[in-house]
Amino acid sequence: MAHTRHYLMCRPDHFAVEYAINPWMDPSAGADAATAVHQWERLKDAYEELGHTVSLIDPIPGLPDMVFAANGALVVGGRVYGARFASAERAAEGPAYLRWFQENGYGPLMEPTQTNEGEGDFLTLDDVILAGTGFRTAITAHKEAQEFLGRPVVTLQLVDPRYYHLDTALFPIDGSNVAYYPGAFSRGSQEVLRRMFPDAVLASAEDAAVLGLNAVSDGHNVVVNAEAADLSLELKRRGLNVIPVDLSELRKAGGGPKCCTLEIRV
Ligand code: ARG
Repeated sequence: MAHTRHYLMCRPDHFAVEYAINPWMDPSAGADAATAVHQWERLKDAYEELGHTVSLIDPIPGLPDMVFAANGALVVGGRVYGARFASAERAAEGPAYLRWFQENGYGPLMEPTQTNEGEGDFLTLDDVILAGTGFRTAITAHKEAQEFLGRPVVTLQLVDPRYYHLDTALFPIDGSNVAYYPGAFSRGSQEVLRRMFPDAVLASAEDAAVLGLNAVSDGHNVVVNAEAADLSLELKRRGLNVIPVDLSELRKAGGGPKCCTLEIRV
């Protein structure tokens, strides 16, 4: 069942590709903030047309990746587990997002001691939180989040640098099923996923390569990169309402719809 969501987003006013911390980023090719803002506005409109609530955090000059709100925290049951970024370039985003939650009356909040990039690597289902490691988030953060949130956290090992965050390779379709690209995961983690989600949607390398797995589902409506053709067909075949978006400019930094979207679960 679809239900109304609350998302936190950050307008990409200062978006740019100025450094390379993942294989999608090419500073010599750059990116255009005005195009990014236009595409991002369409994404925000899509959420609001679905009846979801969107809150905004002010973008900070000098933090070109701050648009990727998913990385800013993990919020489950009203508890806010802060982010601690792997790279110096994004380090200031962690405290900025935590401050937003504090100023807006959320809590309890936890300043993390372990490296983690929020919902980039933590995806919440009804009974479990799936957690990626291998490129950004430390496995010790999985333990820290489990202890703070009181939810079981299952570690998944990422092995392909193009899919450096869990949310680039997998998304929850609803509270109990997922779609994913198997090639992004270690053999053992592929087995874990097969065991946990026998009815999962398996995405192709082609759909993964347009960041099709970086999608946002409310259980009925799935907002997904328009280029992910086969994945969209399969989702429709399963009765889901697919809402295609064009975030091609943000993809130049390695991000898609989910990266721009931090879910506030109270
Ligand atoms: N350029 C950003 C980085 O490499 C992109 C982050 C995308 N966010 C995400 N949730 N996958 O950190």
